[in-house]
Amino acid sequence: MPLYIVDKPLTLHILTQLRDKNTDQINFRKNMVRLGRILGYEIANTLDYEIIEIETPLNVKTKGIDIVDLNNIVIINILRAAVPLVEGLLKAFPKARQGVIAASRVEINGAEVPKEMQVTIYYKKIPEIKAGIDNVIIADPMIATASTMLKVLEEIVRANPKRIYIVSVISSKYGIDRILSNYPSVYLFTVSIDPELNKKGYILPGLGDAGDRAFG
Ligand code: URA
Repeated sequence: MPLYIVDKPLTLHILTQLRDKNTDQINFRKNMVRLGRILGYEIANTLDYEIIEIETPLNVKTKGIDIVDLNNIVIINILRAAVPLVEGLLKAFPKARQGVIAASRVEINGAEVPKEMQVTIYYKKIPEIKAGIDNVIIADPMIATASTMLKVLEEIVRANPKRIYIVSVISSKYGIDRILSNYPSVYLFTVSIDPELNKKGYILPGLGDAGDRAFG
């Protein structure tokens, strides 16, 4: 189960600002961008690379590495909450091609904590994914019941990429278990695993509605 919890002090410092209800929209977005960049670098450390030989300006040959898979990245931007996170990811993967998926979940306020949410994908534009070659990174800052992510994964798995990465900021324990039991080979990067969901399907303690916090 390739689960990476990126809970180093700097990421937790940024997450704390995101969680704080007094953080305004501009700083919320800036901090999401920062996390996107950091999480992107963490993902880059797991990509395939080759040992190469280069020559320095002093005419000395030395060995180095070339992360060849930096050329084979497709980022899927789940609108709208993932926009600032993807802005950060693009700093780590400037050559990435980008797809967008717009999904909405039906608001609920049931008597119990939901096990899944009704999700509609109403727009989708994904570049060609080269089977066995491209690494697809699906970005969604909040994974609650994982209903949206499972719908997106259904689409992406069909293209048979080399690897699928999910990048989130806060994931619920329930959502992570749901994803990894259905797709055990997916690489899942998150900053925090929060313990609970409320009856509306929000993560607790969470950070609220990531789309509203970023865009008002
Ligand atoms: N989406 C959000 O923006 N926040 C949550 O807590 C859950 C889903």
